[in-house]
Amino acid sequence: MRVADRVSVSPAHRVFGALRVPGDKSISHRYALLSALADGRSTIANYAPGADCASTLACLGALGTIVSRTPAPRAEDPPIITIEGRGLRGLRPAGVELDCGNSGSTMRMLGGVIAAHPFVSTLIGDASLSRRPMRRIMGPLTQMGAIVTAEAGDRPPLKIHGADLSGIHFAPDTPSAQVKSAVLLAGLQASGDTSVLEPASTRDHTERALTAFGANVTISGRLIGLRGGQRLAGGAFQVPGDISSAAFMAVAAAAMPGSDVTITGVGLNPSRAGLLDVLRRFGADIETAVEDDHAGEPVGRMRIRHGRMTDLVITPDEVPEVIDELPVLSTLGTFGGSVTVSGAGELRVKESDRIAELVAGLRAMGADAEERPDGFQVRAGTRLTGGTVHARHDHRLAMAFAIAALGAAAPTLIQGADAVAVSYPGFFDDLERLAVRTQASR
Ligand code: S3P
Repeated sequence: MRVADRVSVSPAHRVFGALRVPGDKSISHRYALLSALADGRSTIANYAPGADCASTLACLGALGTIVSRTPAPRAEDPPIITIEGRGLRGLRPAGVELDCGNSGSTMRMLGGVIAAHPFVSTLIGDASLSRRPMRRIMGPLTQMGAIVTAEAGDRPPLKIHGADLSGIHFAPDTPSAQVKSAVLLAGLQASGDTSVLEPASTRDHTERALTAFGANVTISGRLIGLRGGQRLAGGAFQVPGDISSAAFMAVAAAAMPGSDVTITGVGLNPSRAGLLDVLRRFGADIETAVEDDHAGEPVGRMRIRHGRMTDLVITPDEVPEVIDELPVLSTLGTFGGSVTVSGAGELRVKESDRIAELVAGLRAMGADAEERPDGFQVRAGTRLTGGTVHARHDHRLAMAFAIAALGAAAPTLIQGADAVAVSYPGFFDDLERLAVRTQASR
């Protein structure tokens, strides 16, 4: 699906209807990587359709993994991905650079996987990824026995000389599920035990996925451990809908009076559901129901209706659970109720500097917003004017600006809107389907 690079979003009165969102990006990466390391064949249904997860598959293909796509039984579903596992340390030298595109998850988690393979790999990325810090994986992977070098000490391209690794006990300074996962994936293929003590809990999809592939993972609070050398068994997996994609419509529904949106088949893993707590605090009326379990991931539905709106303060301890949702949560401040975020300095090293670019974009649309070193404030009381805004090649900014645009007085032209293809190619179509632009009820 091609997305136009300039999209105009008109104001709406409310959002209404039911929706399925694309497969979870975080879980898709993990199922692909673990399938490649497993013994036997795996199938992955509802694999995330965006460019990021395609980058992971392309890299695995370059490393000798046979990846194929077959049509899903229902025409509206994405193709089923089949991966022929190569077993632990079974990947082959790529002979080409491994292009991770825009995907930090691909670079960091694949980095952990190939650090245990006895050959040299070079991982590259697009302009945005080439600016993102990699020391956070270089440190532990080097400690385990790999040789990892980068541009300017810290930035991609990353060159990884894989080796026979030894397990480590690692305590990162910054909470990061990507770093935790890189270390665990390296540890799985290392000798001895590996553990990660997180400074704050982060999404636990790697732990759940490893367990679903048959590994024994021990979890004691923020300490996660595993023994190296455990074989994984391929199987049939189904990816839940991505709650971080659902977040855009959920925020719109929370913000706009009269809204009522139900999202089905969505992942409701508690380590990702901080969004729901924050929206409830803002005043939204939210019902959730877990209906299924896919490989240890709770899946179900959520219904979001507008409620009263209050000022919202998001504190540093809440940040890891809503890190990807902060751009869209900021837009609540443009509908009523100020939004203040602190302890979110990590936003500056995402696909863009999400503090600077978010504040710049919202201000271009008429918001009263202020940048802070580790967060931002969007103050209530100013109706957006609309206008022109640039997504800065950042998918979550493009979608956040589109949600803010629903509440503006006039249309907003989003430049660089094609960035949504990274995680949610059908975003603008879904938004148009849910947006109600007449006063009459539907
Ligand atoms: C992710 C972890 C988070 C998140 C990213 C996906 C993952 O990054 O922002 O979109 O799938 O593990 P960090 O690990 O850098 O916090």
